[in-house]
Amino acid sequence: MRIAAQSIEEVREAAQIAEVASEFTALRRVGARFNGLCPYPDHNEKTPSFSVSPDKSFYYCFGCSRGGDAIKLVMELKSFSFSEAVSHLAERFGVELRFEGRSPEQERAAEQRNARRRSAYKALAAATAYYHKYLLKSPAAEEARRYLKERGFEYSTIEEFRLGYAPPRGRQGFVEAARGVGLGREALEAAGLLSSRGGERFGDRVMFPISDRRGRIVGFGARSLGEAKPKYLNSPETELFNKRSLLYGFPQVAEAMRREKAALVVEGYTDVLMLYQSGIKNAVATLGTAMTEQHLKTLSGHAEKIYLLFDPDEAGEKAVERVMVTAAELRLDLRVLRLPQDPADWLLEHPPEEFTDLLSGAVPVLEYGIRRIVGRARGAGAASRARAVPEVKALLGRIEDPVLNREAFRLAAEALGVDPETLRDESRSTNSMERTTPRSRARNVPGDPLAEAGRELLALVLTRPDLASGALRAGMEAPDLLNAPVVLGPDDFGDDVQGRIFALLSEHAGEDLSTVLSDERARALLDEISALQAEGERLYPSEASLRAAWFRLASLSRERAKLFTEDFDEKHRLHLETKRLNRAAVKVSNLTLES
Ligand code: CTP
Ligand code: MN
Repeated sequence: MRIAAQSIEEVREAAQIAEVASEFTALRRVGARFNGLCPYPDHNEKTPSFSVSPDKSFYYCFGCSRGGDAIKLVMELKSFSFSEAVSHLAERFGVELRFEGRSPEQERAAEQRNARRRSAYKALAAATAYYHKYLLKSPAAEEARRYLKERGFEYSTIEEFRLGYAPPRGRQGFVEAARGVGLGREALEAAGLLSSRGGERFGDRVMFPISDRRGRIVGFGARSLGEAKPKYLNSPETELFNKRSLLYGFPQVAEAMRREKAALVVEGYTDVLMLYQSGIKNAVATLGTAMTEQHLKTLSGHAEKIYLLFDPDEAGEKAVERVMVTAAELRLDLRVLRLPQDPADWLLEHPPEEFTDLLSGAVPVLEYGIRRIVGRARGAGAASRARAVPEVKALLGRIEDPVLNREAFRLAAEALGVDPETLRDESRSTNSMERTTPRSRARNVPGDPLAEAGRELLALVLTRPDLASGALRAGMEAPDLLNAPVVLGPDDFGDDVQGRIFALLSEHAGEDLSTVLSDERARALLDEISALQAEGERLYPSEASLRAAWFRLASLSRERAKLFTEDFDEKHRLHLETKRLNRAAVKVSNLTLES
């Protein structure tokens, strides 16, 4: 059973490489790329050499020379097979796979699953529209409208976040309306819209639709209008709705988050909305759970600085301790702030500018966490303070970033009232970290001009396949300088891998790079292809630079052929051709310089 080639292409296009890579390492935006520490487990590094290009859908590590596309990254870091990796990404980015040579039953089962998901999305979208319209239009929603108004929500916020109202029980609800638009029970079930008894799940509640990262509605939070319990009723966990990874408001605020490189994480839906309408448009909320590692990883692909705002309660405090190490591992600047009041309520009484002042009082999570552990021990005398030492040290041992680690030691020593060196010495002996050296690969030896020229040419072709397609098909022309187009073949390259890459590119001339990479033969060449891609971005790809590189390689390869031929006429012919090509290469690069 094979995944259809076209499906593989679709997956490659849909998979957001930066998002995929963020699952394994924290990325920082640097110009058009993202950089981070290499996520390969056998490559421990302290300065980032892992680079991701979202435009090209490629990653490459300058340290261990591994690179490729999202599929390869998932294969290697999750130890998945090719088809497992493709299926995993298809699932994650909403691509429906088609298969070749699948048994009819398998085909049917897969089709059923896809159909169920599709209709669940449809049901959720229809429910959102239904509840939203009901809130805005129905006389029965009068109280809900008044409630939202009293809480200070503006019409534009209600619209933008598609708030709704589920009709009180006894009236026609969505389940009944769904029948009218051809949505059956199975769809409603998969969408989590039914109660455990099979009736309407939500009644007489303000509806907060919750979207996934791609903006598809996957569930609801539903608040009672008054004091009725529970205050919030949420969608049950379904195939589409997973509270541990979803963040309320994400699609609405992602843009602002990226722009400001910062995100606020609050606890309530209403807090996100009030912040948003006060002009603080980069806040998301967890869905009644504490912040998880998954949340942090999601955010780390978009923001560098994260403010975690939480109620002063025990559960919130515990969560901080849990994510503290993850944040350090992800190199996120995570700061925490305990608020005296929910942001939504606070903003009703204070101007938004003051909120920004509040934020500046947020404490780096490391400091917060260490102070807390130590604080627990304090007051109870020297004995229990001593008991906090191993706990703190266990924490410190997990922070690998040298700068953070030093800072953590300083903080811990200060809080514990001991000398930092004492703490450090003790912990060094108890936790000797073994590190494997990064695997180093024989790269092309610099100084071999043919190999260098091959690299440059391939890098240029890979960066601008559009400029190269004509030359790949019929040779490179230079009408004023040469009387015939210069054709290159795999044998012109000094390196077997380069030759194979060139053959592949020639065969797929004029096609999308994505199509080229779906060719099975490309899979084995991905480390090299992504290395060349990364290199290409440092060159200045232009028609002229491509021509110059083309002629330079042709010239060098003729020169090599000249060495090997015994035929003197042939030697002479190659000699002249080399000179002509050299001249052409120089001419076209001078043209580049002059223009
Ligand atoms: N929550 C929940 N179930 C509850 C109470 C709370 O799922 N019974 C979740 C919701 O996601 C809610 C968040 O916890 O948004 C924060 O709870 P809380 O502060 O009590 O509610 P707010 O969202 O602030 O709502 P409101 O301001 O209307 O009280
Ligand atoms: Mn609240």
